[in-house]
Amino acid sequence: MSHNIPDRVKRRVEDILSRYPRREAALLPVLSALQEERGFLSHSDEEWAADTLGIPPAKVREVVTFYSLFRRKPAGRHHLQVCTNVSCALNGADGLLSHLRKKLGIAEGETSADGRFSLSSVECLGHCDEAPCLMVNDEHYGRLDRRALDELLEKLE
Ligand code: FES
Repeated sequence: MSHNIPDRVKRRVEDILSRYPRREAALLPVLSALQEERGFLSHSDEEWAADTLGIPPAKVREVVTFYSLFRRKPAGRHHLQVCTNVSCALNGADGLLSHLRKKLGIAEGETSADGRFSLSSVECLGHCDEAPCLMVNDEHYGRLDRRALDELLEKLE
């Protein structure tokens, strides 16, 4: 099967693999490199990763579906991922999420019609001391309230 992986991505993956004692151990950075190319991981990307690392496709699928940082369909230009785990929930994550739903006109798992925003709720982002927090693409933002969130959205627009 042809996977249509650009040569620059293959070179990057070879570089990643050269830093790991076992190919399988490089699964997360390899998936990140593939996702950076198109903004999501296709079925073909997953198969290519499995072939390249010598592991079963089901193992790749498990990892892709477990970690919220991996996407299986295209996201908007700004992917807002709101943490709803314990620390963030106790500090107002639900309110932030409903504010975003209203303001953007989308629910979790959806992308705005203009393709600018996607919204997700996710598990702990590892910044519990800054709860409530979210990520926009790869950037983390903490200690948010509605006003800070509105300012952030304006900056993103
Ligand atoms: S609970 Fe939200 S970052 Fe940990």
